[in-house]
Amino acid sequence: MVDVTALQPAVPVIGRLVVVGLGLIGGSFAKGLRESGLCGEVVGVDLDPQSRKLAVELGVVDRCEADLALACQGADVIQLAVPILAMEKLLALLAGMDLGQAILTDVGSAKGNVVRAAQLAFGGMPARFVPGHPIAGSEQSGVEASNAQLFRRHKVILTPLEQTDPAALAVVDRLWRELGADVEHMQVERHDEVLAATSHLPHLLAFGLVDSLAKRNENLDIFRYAAGGFRDFTRIAGSDPVMWHDIFLANREAVLRTLDTFRSDLDALRDAVDAGDGHQLLGVFTRARVAREHFSKILARRAYMETAMNADELTFLASPGGRLSGQIRVPGDKSISHRSIMLGSLAEGVTEIEGFLEGEDALATLQAFRDMGVVIEGPHHGRVTIHGVGLHGLKPAPGPIYLGNSGTSMRLLSGLLAAQRFDSVLAGDASLSKRPMSRVAKPLREMGAVIETGPEGRPPLTIRGGQVLKGMAYSMPMASAQVKSCLLLAGLYAEGKTSVTEPAPTRDHTERMLRGFGYPVEVAGATASVEPGHALIATHIEVPGDISSSAFFLVAASIAEGSELLLEHVGVNPTRTGVIDILRLMGADITLENPRKVGGEAVADLRVRAAALKGIEIPEALVPLAIDEFPVLFVAAACAEGRTVLRGAEELRVKESDRIQVMADGLLALGVKCEPTPDGIIIDGGPIGGGEVHAHGDHRIAMAFSVASLRAAAPIRIRDCANVATSFPNFLTLCAHVGIRVAQEAQL
Ligand code: S3P
Repeated sequence: MVDVTALQPAVPVIGRLVVVGLGLIGGSFAKGLRESGLCGEVVGVDLDPQSRKLAVELGVVDRCEADLALACQGADVIQLAVPILAMEKLLALLAGMDLGQAILTDVGSAKGNVVRAAQLAFGGMPARFVPGHPIAGSEQSGVEASNAQLFRRHKVILTPLEQTDPAALAVVDRLWRELGADVEHMQVERHDEVLAATSHLPHLLAFGLVDSLAKRNENLDIFRYAAGGFRDFTRIAGSDPVMWHDIFLANREAVLRTLDTFRSDLDALRDAVDAGDGHQLLGVFTRARVAREHFSKILARRAYMETAMNADELTFLASPGGRLSGQIRVPGDKSISHRSIMLGSLAEGVTEIEGFLEGEDALATLQAFRDMGVVIEGPHHGRVTIHGVGLHGLKPAPGPIYLGNSGTSMRLLSGLLAAQRFDSVLAGDASLSKRPMSRVAKPLREMGAVIETGPEGRPPLTIRGGQVLKGMAYSMPMASAQVKSCLLLAGLYAEGKTSVTEPAPTRDHTERMLRGFGYPVEVAGATASVEPGHALIATHIEVPGDISSSAFFLVAASIAEGSELLLEHVGVNPTRTGVIDILRLMGADITLENPRKVGGEAVADLRVRAAALKGIEIPEALVPLAIDEFPVLFVAAACAEGRTVLRGAEELRVKESDRIQVMADGLLALGVKCEPTPDGIIIDGGPIGGGEVHAHGDHRIAMAFSVASLRAAAPIRIRDCANVATSFPNFLTLCAHVGIRVAQEAQL
């Protein structure tokens, strides 16, 4: 096999490239490669004498031939860039020639028919034929429009077959990459399905709509009233009719499949309009809008425009020093935001939410409920309107529910979905896929649920619906609010009473919010219980600021000399304030001002002033009450005088990352003396140096090291920070506002 990557562009990788068909695509391919110096000679073939002449004059090729056989003599690669319906004839001609070891490739917009034509012509698919499709074009056509840059940052899809020679594939791949294309490999059938849905169907609709309107309005007068929407929707009806006629004939089966699905969805919309079913219409429109925003982001970031950037390439650069001042409001509480979507969806009536956290985790929950048929408007500046469907109104999601990085979504949803009549599959990103799910699967199975997990109890979860769950009394082996909430949600549907006893207090937002929706919850000591047979009634929810996000600023203002900061409207539910207690034990100066109750949750403004911190033994009872705040508490410990010891916190090893190990690695890299233990860490306060640390995709690690920079002697470079968006999308903006000098490192 040729190792094409080892070859340098200055030395030709192939001797002779032959391009058959000198239109826009063929001409641009030839011109780009000729300029690259990757081919010894570029030869063009075209039926049209004028195109041949122009191709040489414009420097698109080195020479041109009218005769195919003559041109292909001694060719190393032959690119077939003729109209798709001319391909059959061309392949038959090529099959009759001696092509030696030449590699064949093509640019047709449908691949199944090209492969069939090649099989017919050659009596089987030649191993050295690599089917391809550049997704690029322009309004211009002809060899005179040839543009060496045409494929730069555009996708090119290669559809090798099983028998395709890997060396041939590697050469074709290399040629496209040389032109700046973003090359992907895909199966023939998949390619044709994808293109039918995303390109061919929209063209059919645009041509069809314009024609339908035009032929009913002979003087075309109605178009005088057409505004931007019509123009945008029908822009592609200006495309080349002959080329599109070819494509629909070539990709007939895949187009028919996607068209039939679309027709039945269109009929459903028609029925909704006919029946005056505004709820159904709003559901379709809100889902479509979100889907569009989602793929616009994908398009803007990767597919056609920019070079691909992997999430783990997002790096923060934190400059040393600084002092905090001012007044800020951190985004809404993540735990409460998740629960507001879940309970609002299961309620009867319309629930309004304010202060909703527009971070990726809570949005994953929101999208999951949209997928299950709930109409949810927003979020817009933290406002969300949920048209609840009642406890029994969820519908099966159309496919697996993707929950990104969010453990809370997966664990809480598993309890709820175990009790539904339909099956569900829950999946997540690489980090979530490593996290333990047996802690929920096991007790749910004891209640009668049927759940399959991946190996070692990890995601994905396949949940079989239609089971009758039985309430039970469960004593949790670990202090987990997620497990407790999961079982209470299942308990809303189970026969009899479901009770959960916790070994230590954990956040009680689920219990509080259930009551807020009018659902009775009994709490006796460490045990919370629910019974079935009640309903959730829609309500208004104001989500307080997240104390877990505030924690970064509580530590930042404590460790940076001369700081004073006010954090407004922070949730101070007593099951969440462990971070304040621990920091105060270390000597921090934090005061709660203007304490109040908002919708069943305690809220206050937090004033924090810099203080000299000292090392402590962290009381184990406080661990579950500060479970998410340890990464930044470790930074506080590194800045404290003396030793801080944490024990009883093994749960930290199964969070978004192994937070004990990852923090220890980072602190050691910055010269802090520390030692991880199986269930905690020992940290000796002292000077912090600069350097590079890795956040391992864990949002709280990335933010904790940003805070550490305030006391660092040199800049800290923090890698793999994209997941800060899961819980704190405007973190960098708020840092800049109060005086923490951390920013996204400029992309090269
Ligand atoms: C959460 C509970 C905690 C916490 C997580 C959110 C919740 O997890 O770490 O970030 O919203 O219930 P555990 O309950 O697994 O400790």
